[in-house]
Amino acid sequence: MSVNRCICHDISFGEINQIAAGKNLCTIEELREEEICSTQCRLCEPYIRAMLKTGQTSFEPGLIPNTGRKR
Ligand code: FES
Repeated sequence: MSVNRCICHDISFGEINQIAAGKNLCTIEELREEEICSTQCRLCEPYIRAMLKTGQTSFEPGLIPNTGRKR
């Protein structure tokens, strides 16, 4: 099972990526202001930050993107 969604907002990273592109939202702060994702527990934050940089929308569980560190 991969990490591929903001559970609190019930939205996939792929959907977030499409909305971000359509509304020209480039940061997680801008996505939060629109209340699209990552306003509650924020466990999705490192994954969404990585998605915004790379376009990757699915991640290995427990691996913090771009760090190689385990949670
Ligand atoms: S999983 Fe995204 S705010 Fe909780």
